[in-house]
Amino acid sequence: MNGHELEGRVAVITGGSRGIGLGIAKAYREAGAHVVIAARKPDGLAAAREELLHVKGDGEVHDVVANAGEPEDAERCVAQTMTRFGHLDILVNNAATNPYMGALLDLDLPRAEKTVRVNQYGMVAWTRCAWRAWMAEHGGAVVNIASVGGLIVDPHIGWYNATKAAMLHMTRQLAYELGPQARVNAIAPGLIKTELARAVWEPREPILTARLPLRRLGTVRDVAHAAVFLASGASSWMTGQTLVLDGGATVLPIGVEA
Ligand SMILES: NC(=O)c1ccc[n+]([C@@H]2O[C@H](COP(=O)([O-])OP(=O)(O)OC[C@H]3O[C@@H](n4cnc5c(N)ncnc54)[C@H](OP(=O)(O)O)[C@@H]3O)[C@@H](O)[C@H]2O)c1
Repeated sequence: MNGHELEGRVAVITGGSRGIGLGIAKAYREAGAHVVIAARKPDGLAAAREELLHVKGDGEVHDVVANAGEPEDAERCVAQTMTRFGHLDILVNNAATNPYMGALLDLDLPRAEKTVRVNQYGMVAWTRCAWRAWMAEHGGAVVNIASVGGLIVDPHIGWYNATKAAMLHMTRQLAYELGPQARVNAIAPGLIKTELARAVWEPREPILTARLPLRRLGTVRDVAHAAVFLASGASSWMTGQTLVLDGGATVLPIGVEA
């Protein structure tokens, strides 16, 4: 990366106040973009904004209180972005929720609906707004943050993983529907050391890393670098694809211990 990959572009990042979303916002700013971060909590957004302003970069930082599962919030955020910058070149569908842990057969409808609403329908709603406001006429790049969980079976988070699998499919579907103007790609991260996942990685980090071919867990920077690539001209002939960033977790031979 040379620091100018996204010079002057405008990027909207859902869930941009913490973790992977904030990491992507930092990397985009370093690459020359103006960033609009959206999340539900104003305090978190204000703190993220301060952090972003300390990152080297000339781009502006704008924050919008918005729930990724509310289509009206998507419309408001995109409208504010257009008013402020006049264009919207990159959309990162990063916000997700996981309100249920357990077997599929024990899942209740309210939590099932909430997961689909934010993770799955949210991706469509935000992409539609960006498309109608700018990308249909002028082009752009959509980057969806899915999960390696969308490719595997897990005993506890099967419903969340099903929405992530849906994101991977919708990435291909939208790549077809939005081409040639806009490109749509996804990232499927393995376990990344964010606050969200701390309870999973912190107590078991040595065991988890020993199993991975690359012998370490993922960082926010790992995902952010891939998100810069997918938003930049370096990936201009790539659409409908998923980059799996998992330290090699999904290439482990079945039944073989590290
Ligand atoms: N961490 C991992 O190991 C891992 C692995 C694979 C995939 N992922 C995916 O990566 C993405 C980010 O995860 P993360 O670990 O960075 O999470 P995180 O650290 O908990 O950050 C989540 C961000 O999303 C926002 N958010 C949550 N629900 C939202 C909603 N309904 N509408 C708008 N914003 C919302 C949060 O702010 P507010 O609370 O203020 O809304 C925050 O900014 C998710 O799609 C997740 O599924 C994570």
